[in-house]
Amino acid sequence: MPTVYIETYGCQMNVSDTELMLGKLAAHGYTPVDGPDGADVILLNTCAIRDHAEQRVIGRLGELKRFMTKGSVMGVTGCMAQRLGPQLLEKARHVSLVVGPDAYRALPDLVDRARTGERAIQTSFDMEEHYEDFQPKRFDHVKAWIPVQRGCDYRCTYCIVPYTRGPERSRALADVVREVETTVTEGMTEAVLLGQTVNSWTDGTHDFADLLRAVGAVPGLRRLRFTSPHPNDFTDRVIAAMAEVESVCEHVHLPMQSGSSAMLKRMLRRYSRETYLECVGRLRAAIPGLNVTTDIIVGFPGETDAEFEETLSAVRAANFSDAFTFKFSPRDGTPATKMPAEWTIPDEVASARLERLVATVRGMAREQNLAMLGRTCEVLVEKEARKNDMLQARTRDFKTVLLPAGAGAIGSYLEVQLNGTTGSTFTGQAVKRERALPMASPAALAPA
Ligand code: 5AD
Ligand code: SF4
Repeated sequence: MPTVYIETYGCQMNVSDTELMLGKLAAHGYTPVDGPDGADVILLNTCAIRDHAEQRVIGRLGELKRFMTKGSVMGVTGCMAQRLGPQLLEKARHVSLVVGPDAYRALPDLVDRARTGERAIQTSFDMEEHYEDFQPKRFDHVKAWIPVQRGCDYRCTYCIVPYTRGPERSRALADVVREVETTVTEGMTEAVLLGQTVNSWTDGTHDFADLLRAVGAVPGLRRLRFTSPHPNDFTDRVIAAMAEVESVCEHVHLPMQSGSSAMLKRMLRRYSRETYLECVGRLRAAIPGLNVTTDIIVGFPGETDAEFEETLSAVRAANFSDAFTFKFSPRDGTPATKMPAEWTIPDEVASARLERLVATVRGMAREQNLAMLGRTCEVLVEKEARKNDMLQARTRDFKTVLLPAGAGAIGSYLEVQLNGTTGSTFTGQAVKRERALPMASPAALAPA
């Protein structure tokens, strides 16, 4: 049987797409393998969000060339495939397959053609495509990635995603519920709903609040998460559903991007500093013990020192427990690249801002985490940690806890006491349960 190896870059949506592609290829007789050596088909499922992500892939395509044998094929899928299309075939002569995120249905056929020596490419968008009949081949057996929405309609001025993943479309509620039921039957007690602006999900009849309630009602599902929401789509209905559905975890990853209203306008984020902070306030008021994490871009065109200071103060005001921080990376074809040249922020200024931002976020996380030491909470054991002889587990509010090997089986829930922290992650110890707790109550996770 021919073998296929897929390497995944970028966001969880790409991880989920890789699972779908492997499922599709497995149904056509390909055996998934976990290394490139000797694989008949090598695919890189790529991200286009920043230039750095693309450069890594270009470098990796060169490195992987040495694993190719006579008759094997190398392909690029995902957002870079969509963005660069035929240019990829010119850039890397050994690449013979380029497939965009809406074209994976054609993957077996395209792979077959590439294996007979053709150079195959497909990058058309398909507004109906949700790969509903695919059987994903999952690698994570603890939590299930559940795509509920593809594409994006927001068009923030820095972002390539609307161009690489096309317009927003949502799956039907019943299809999402069915998939979660299946994954629970397979033993996965956590589900993560995925979409570019996941809380704008609607199937025409239902909204995201209905979706949370319907998925939350699946028997056996203990943890429900979603990523990433947009502040403008946190209606009172959605927040009420989050508060009332017991499996919805006390964590929201809510990209802020900037804390300056003027910057947010240039970014076309469609909210202001005030309405963002208000949204965080509404979430915190409804959900005790909520942890909020975020994404922030520094060095976006025209960012003044004062605007950057506003970002730092908003980070403090929102009391984030963590943040992914990025230097702005211009993406061809996005509105940000057409802004006046004199708005460009010199790299050394952006780097200095990034450094200050990272220090601020780390300091806050450290303070919050130190205050949690000694507390007992429920964790789900996710996998073996990279460190020897440790297990990696997660609290409902998304803190990472390292446990001694043997503390519990992967996929099991434990009560642990947090007894050490590096500032960002914890070490913990399983404690004897006083009484059976089917689920951590939000109160158990609330700040003291
Ligand atoms: N440059 C830098 N960061 C970006 N992001 C999106 N586009 C860009 C860009 N052009 C960041 C945003 C987003 C996260 C996934 O990546 O913060 O939320
Ligand atoms: Fe990267 Fe965005 Fe594509 Fe995900 S959707 S792979 S983050 S460009």
